[in-house]
Amino acid sequence: MKIEDSIETFNSLLKRRGFIWGPSPEIYGGFAGFYSYGPAGTALKNNILDIFRRECRYFGFGEVECPTIIPRIVWEASGHLERFADPVLRCNKCKTLYRADKFLQDNLPDQVIDGLSFKEMEKLIEKSILTCPKCDIPFERIEEYNLMLKTTVGNNTIAYLRPETATTTYLLFNRLIQDARRQYPIKIFQFGKAYRNEISPRQGVLRMRAFDQLELQIFISKEMEMEFEDYKEIKSKKLPLLDWKLQEKGINKINLIRLDNAIKKRILQKPAFAYCLYLGYHLTKILGIPEPLIRFRQHSINERAHYADDAWDLEIKTRQFGWVEICGIHDRTDYDLRKHAEYSKQSFEISMGSDPKIKEIPQVLEIAFGIDRIIYTLLETTFTIDQGRINLKINHRLAPNTVAVFPLVKNKENIRNLALKIHRDLLENRINSFFDAAGSIGKRYRRQDELGTKWCVTIDYESLDDNTVTIRERDSMDQIRVNISDLAEVIKKKQDE
Ligand code: GLY
Repeated sequence: MKIEDSIETFNSLLKRRGFIWGPSPEIYGGFAGFYSYGPAGTALKNNILDIFRRECRYFGFGEVECPTIIPRIVWEASGHLERFADPVLRCNKCKTLYRADKFLQDNLPDQVIDGLSFKEMEKLIEKSILTCPKCDIPFERIEEYNLMLKTTVGNNTIAYLRPETATTTYLLFNRLIQDARRQYPIKIFQFGKAYRNEISPRQGVLRMRAFDQLELQIFISKEMEMEFEDYKEIKSKKLPLLDWKLQEKGINKINLIRLDNAIKKRILQKPAFAYCLYLGYHLTKILGIPEPLIRFRQHSINERAHYADDAWDLEIKTRQFGWVEICGIHDRTDYDLRKHAEYSKQSFEISMGSDPKIKEIPQVLEIAFGIDRIIYTLLETTFTIDQGRINLKINHRLAPNTVAVFPLVKNKENIRNLALKIHRDLLENRINSFFDAAGSIGKRYRRQDELGTKWCVTIDYESLDDNTVTIRERDSMDQIRVNISDLAEVIKKKQDE
C-alpha cells in the first residue's frame, strides 16, 4: 500500500472509530481549529492522563487547577500582551493573513527559516519577490499577530483566555510557598485547556485554537539548578539531542549523547534543566513511542518564546507531518515571577538554601506537554496495516478497551447470556471490558484491532459444555482457551507482563 493511501486510511479511522471528530460543530459546517473527541478518543486521553498523573506524583509533583479566563493585567505583566505573537503577512488586496515563517518554508523549501528574525524574513520576502497566492500582489512587510483570545467579563471588563497553563500556576506562587513548608524545589503541574487564536489552523488536532496542556513547573534556586540531587541518578542517560549549533550548520543528524557529556560540552548549561529533558523523555517513552522516532531540537534565540532563556522541543517523527513538537522544555529563569512580583507589588523573594539571610526570586524550569499532539502522534505511530488488516499496536494500558467480549452467535440466548455475565464479571474486576454482539465475528475482531484492544474473548458452543472461552491476542492473533473462572486473573496477569 502506498504511504498516501495508508495515511488516508489512518485519517478515516480516526473518525470512523470515534477517536477525533471535527472541526466542531460538524453539523454547522465546522469552526476551524476546534475538535471533539469521541468515546474512543476520550478514553485514550483519560488513560494517558492516568499514567501521567501517576508518574508526576512519583517524581514529586503536586497538582493544581486554575481558572482559564484571566484579567488583562496578568498578561501585561507576563509579557504575553506585547510579545506572544506570530509574524504574519497580510495581502493588501484580499486581506488574507499568512503565517510568515510557514509561508516562507513552503515557498522556499531549501532555505533554513527557523531562527530568522522578523527583519531577516522581511528581507528574504523582498529578495525572493514572494506574492499573495490568490492575488499575486507582492507582500510589503511583516506584522505581529497576537495569539491571545480576548473576551469580556461582567460589565465589560477585558480578560483573556489563557494561552498556557503555566502562567496561571505562577500566580499561585505565594500560596505554593506556604504549602511547601520549606521543602525545595517546589514541583507543581497543571492539566487543562489553553487557547490560541491560530492564524490558519491546519493539521487537525496538531494546531487547535482550544487545546489541552499538561505543564510541569519546578521552582528552584540558582544554586540548586547547578547542584541538583535528582540529576545524579540520570546523568549517564543518553538522549537524542539536536542542538542549535548543529542545525545552523544544516546538520540534522541526531546524536545520542549522555547528559553529563552534554553539560561538559556546554550543550546544556544546568544539571536541573538536563533533568527536565530526561523527565520529558521518560514520560514520552512510557507511553510506548519508539525511541528512534523521538528527538530534542533546541530553539535558536529568535525562535524562543519571550520568557525562555533556553528552549528545546521534544519532537516525534510522523508520516503525515514530519517532526512534530509534543513538548517544550523551557528555562524561564526568574522572568515570570519577577514580572508578577513587580506588577502585583508582592515580594516573591524567599530563602531556599541553608543560609536564611540569602533571599532570591526562584528560577522556573518547565516541561510543557500538548496532550492533543500526544494523542495524534501515538495513534499515528502505532497504526499498522498488514496484508489489509488494520491493527493499532497501542500499549494495552492506553487502549480505549482492555478486553472485548463476543458471543460467537448473537441469537442463541444461552451463549449471549453467558457472554454478558462474563463481561459483567470482568467489569466487576475493574477490567475495561466492551461487549459486542453486532455483525460477524470477523468484523468484530477487525473493529477491536482498529481500536487497539489487546484481548478479545469469545464465547461459543463449547463454552456452554466445558466453561471455557477463547482469548485472542491482538498482534499475533493467537488464541488460547481458558476456564471462565480463571479469566479475570489471566487477563490481569497479562496486563502486568
Ligand atoms: N507554557 C509553555 C507553552 O505553552 O508552550
